[in-house]
Amino acid sequence: MRTIDWVDDAVELIDQTRLPDECVRLRITTVDELIDAIRRLAVRGAPALGVAGALGVVLSDGNRDAVARLRAARPTAVNLAWGVDQAAAWLPQGRRAVLEAALRIRDEDIAACLAMGEQGADLLTSGLLGSGVRASVPPVQDRPDGRLRIMTICNTGGLAAVERGTALGVAQTLHERGRLAEVLALETRPLLQGARLTAWELARMGAPHRLVADGAGPYLLARGGVDAVLVGADRIAANGDTANKIGTYALALGAARAGVPFVVVAPETTIDFATPTGAGIEIEDRGAEEIVTLRGTRVAPEGTDAVNPAFDVTPHDLITAIVTDKRVIRP
Ligand code: MRU
Repeated sequence: MRTIDWVDDAVELIDQTRLPDECVRLRITTVDELIDAIRRLAVRGAPALGVAGALGVVLSDGNRDAVARLRAARPTAVNLAWGVDQAAAWLPQGRRAVLEAALRIRDEDIAACLAMGEQGADLLTSGLLGSGVRASVPPVQDRPDGRLRIMTICNTGGLAAVERGTALGVAQTLHERGRLAEVLALETRPLLQGARLTAWELARMGAPHRLVADGAGPYLLARGGVDAVLVGADRIAANGDTANKIGTYALALGAARAGVPFVVVAPETTIDFATPTGAGIEIEDRGAEEIVTLRGTRVAPEGTDAVNPAFDVTPHDLITAIVTDKRVIRP
């Protein structure tokens, strides 16, 4: 099942706001419908946004204003702007050329996710990863049963890409190789991508998993019992600083303190050489409503204000390795 695809002259995507209760597909025929789907996170996750951006250019029929609005629908994941730009470069050649470019991006994402799964699983089981920033636990390959306990945040599975994901794709490959003990998935407030989406994907894979409240992540790392933290990325600056879902930075600090390897898994297209450091990454602020409510129910007193950054930036010195579809990058 593809998260996003081009079907009968329209963008078809799984409406992720409806998961896990129901898995329904949306058929999108205009750029404005696509922008709306992106903003309300019906389609989300950096690689999926790249494909959405590219396919959206086909829907634009060359309307440059629509292309610009699509490009700016969400600011942090560089893949969205990248996908739009890649497809828009073909506009002078006509709609068919744009569609072919967008479908190439879709196919390259499928291949890149497979490659990341293999590379990441190889790294984690090779003994070459070591013990993270501070060595206080045995290297991951020393586990007696050879099965790894992975902690992750947000959703970086197939729902965040086309078919397979990035960080969760590595966990999937480990599971397929019989090397996964368990995934500890952070629930990921405020929109619960971990609880709603990652748990749904892991259940479909038949992979052992438990949910963890976001605040419990660093403590569980300190307590022991996690072999590696695997996260995705929305944008990797040229120096390796990495923007990802809010809560990732706390996990990276906890992992460094506990000596647990902290691994970022993302396609090369998420690396933004035009942004020198994490300080230059625009962090989306999604407003108070998502914090003072939980799935439509008000949880804070009427009139309570909130601050809601959707992402944070993990400095490169807290990252043990970045796994892409082409290489493993070390600090
Ligand atoms: O707000 P979201 O759900 O789009 O945030 C997604 C993430 O932070 C993911 O970790 C990131 O996009 C990588 S997805 C493979």
